[in-house]
Amino acid sequence: MPDSLLITGGAGFIGSNFILQRIQSSQAHITNLDLLTYAGNLSNLTSIAGHSRYEFVRGDIADRALVGSILNKHRPSAVIHFAAESHVDRSIRGPEAFITTNINGTYMLLESVREYWTGLPESERAKFRFLHVSTDEVYGSLGPDDPAFTETTPHAPNSPYAASKAASDHLVRAWHHTYGLPTLTTNCSNNYGRFQFPEKLIPLMILNARDRKPLPVYGDGQNVRDWLYVEDHCAAIAAVLERGRPGETYNVGGWNEKPNLEIVGTICDLVDEFAPRAGVSRRELITFVKDRPGHDRRYAMNAGKIERELGWRPRETFDSGLHKTVRWYLENESWVRDVTSGAYRQWIETHYQQ
Ligand code: NAD
Ligand code: TYD
Repeated sequence: MPDSLLITGGAGFIGSNFILQRIQSSQAHITNLDLLTYAGNLSNLTSIAGHSRYEFVRGDIADRALVGSILNKHRPSAVIHFAAESHVDRSIRGPEAFITTNINGTYMLLESVREYWTGLPESERAKFRFLHVSTDEVYGSLGPDDPAFTETTPHAPNSPYAASKAASDHLVRAWHHTYGLPTLTTNCSNNYGRFQFPEKLIPLMILNARDRKPLPVYGDGQNVRDWLYVEDHCAAIAAVLERGRPGETYNVGGWNEKPNLEIVGTICDLVDEFAPRAGVSRRELITFVKDRPGHDRRYAMNAGKIERELGWRPRETFDSGLHKTVRWYLENESWVRDVTSGAYRQWIETHYQQ
């Protein structure tokens, strides 16, 4: 029988890139369970909408009856859990949705999966995997000379988003240790690439630069993040799914630390190159705005374990990945129009008002 996978949150940024990659690279049947919040967008998946190995189900990971029926119908050999509220600024303005989906939703999903897994025949039970997709933000903030986060760095989350993801990591860990569920956790750094909702730094800056709008840089612009091209993250998830050891966590990163201001400057130069306006540089649009409360200063990932144990390494350089990404946003105006609906415009207006 061909393999079957249940993906949660597959209409979002990383989940949709993962599904497109997996449909091409395997024979697996993929069921995508997604609530289609503001961040979920089925147009990411139009190219496989009618594919015989793909099915979309709209629903909530916390819906035990629905999740149970999907699991019993498709009998997946793995669940890959992307679904989450994912934007730090939104978590500061309204943490409740983060508690509901990231903590309670993950708990309900774990319980649905545990019930299904317990009922599997022994041979299938041993092979089953629950892969939890998490973030480097659970580790907190680093000083300029601190070593990068490893898998044994204690969790010290600082934002409501990071705290909700840390809580979900702990639930996944406990479901492995207490019930024996064969879980895997990946903690990845900041992703960029096609289909990222334009509230996050890189797509927001590309589109504002295109439209000659102010480029709002928080604080002094010297906060550092590690950046990884989304397709490299998807390949890392596939490696962990295939070869990772149950109960383990794997850090995923691009060995690519950059201050925000440098990234915004590079985006300006790329937009100038692809969509020139005579005599003006987009860098003039950079505007320093009030800092994000509790803004973590630096994230850095040590991805040595996944490289040593599973042979994964990022393929894309930041240069080539950012080139592709800027081009994609400039060339896909209808996707941008689709996602930047009234609700999106309202967020931008409320959040960036001075
Ligand atoms: P996203 O916000 O683009 O997508 C999240 C998806 O989850 C959306 O399609 C949304 O509709 C869906 N969803 C939300 N609540 C749901 C619910 N209750 N039930 C079912 N579906 C629901 O997020 P993303 O950037 O693709 O991130 C995916 C995962 O990867 C998240 O768990 C995030 O914490 C993690 N992560 C993201 C990054 C990053 O840089 N974006 C880095 C590391 C880890
Ligand atoms: P973001 O893309 O929201 O990801 P995260 O907070 O999960 O790292 O932000 C990346 C960095 O860019 C972060 O340090 C905050 C900063 N930032 C700005 O300076 N201006 C903005 O408008 C946004 C959205 C982010």
